Amino acid sequence: MNRYLLLLFMGILCSCTTKNSRYTNFQPGQVWEDNNGQHINAHGGGILYHNDTYYWYGEHKIEGHQGNTAQVGVHVYSSKDLYNWKDEGIALEVDTLNPKADIAKGCIIERPKVIYNQKTNKYIMWFHLELISLGYDAARSGVAISDSPTGPFTYLKSMRPNKGNWPLNVEEFHKRAVADSVKSAYCGGKECLPNHPDSLNILGRDFEGGQMARDMNLFVDDNGKAYHLYSSEENSTLHIAELSDDYLSHTGNYVRVFPNRYMEAPSIMKTSEGKYYFIGSDCTSWNPNPARSATSDHIFGPWTELGNPVIGTEDQKATTFKSQSTYILPVQGKKDAFIFMADRWKPNNAIDGRYIWLPIQFDNDRIILEWKDQWDLSVFN
Ligand code: GAL
Repeated sequence: MNRYLLLLFMGILCSCTTKNSRYTNFQPGQVWEDNNGQHINAHGGGILYHNDTYYWYGEHKIEGHQGNTAQVGVHVYSSKDLYNWKDEGIALEVDTLNPKADIAKGCIIERPKVIYNQKTNKYIMWFHLELISLGYDAARSGVAISDSPTGPFTYLKSMRPNKGNWPLNVEEFHKRAVADSVKSAYCGGKECLPNHPDSLNILGRDFEGGQMARDMNLFVDDNGKAYHLYSSEENSTLHIAELSDDYLSHTGNYVRVFPNRYMEAPSIMKTSEGKYYFIGSDCTSWNPNPARSATSDHIFGPWTELGNPVIGTEDQKATTFKSQSTYILPVQGKKDAFIFMADRWKPNNAIDGRYIWLPIQFDNDRIILEWKDQWDLSVFN
């Protein structure tokens, strides 16, 4: 090989390796390129760790305001080190042929999460589904399944959870007849729910048809039991619901938590000591707001609120670093190492949404989030 060819060969080798492992740290809020040099397109995401690999699933967004609807589907990336992500394509595609399909192109698919079911050896995806042309009125949960973490996922069904089941902490007044005035739909924000959800009895209103489910997450406990968390009752109250052994449906065991607190963007983690922590947000659409945190000794509560976990400037506290939580990622191989994952939404050009990943710090019984321009996993050492 002459000298020129050798240099060329080394140049090609070099550019390939830098492309595949170019990041050695996290840079919250910056463009984050995948192995092809494209900004990662996995918004409202969640992460599955399986067979030594992390898989990041999220909403594939396109340019402009239209990007807030599902034009493509759920995107998946894989990584060994959490810094560098390989594009694995579209895990769940919207239905481009049948405009009446639940997941027809143009519907809304948000906050997709995937968990692995050991008993069935299947990968199960849950997501917030809004049927085409209904705005946010459908408030349903969609389920899809695959034999492989990178898909393709097959859409199975959607539902409003826990139809015909009262929560474990139901109150007597929920079981009384619901006033006709309550049967009208509200807009999903506190500004247009005229009274406390309990005085209106939104839970009772939706008993027969199933409970509303918008912002959501999944959590798998140490014993393999999985839970579905979703903003319900016109977003006013969070539900934590147990999933069946195959993770495909609800068992009917669930609790209402944080009534009238309008908790959105819910996420749960569990420490090695068995304490559960919750991070969520207030309900202000795409606009950021102060994060909320809470703790409990049991997944079904009682949950105690711990306030805003953000420490920093007034603006950082008021806007959670201009972002909204989406997932808490346990870092493998490190004890009690958790990453707060959030979205900095760009509703006018959805594809440009940015990712805010920050280490979760412990301060006595609280959890804390602090801004870092860049950081790496050594913070957990
Ligand atoms: C947010 C929610 C997002 C999306 C948005 C739409 O509150 O967290 O997932 O639904 O509202 O306005």
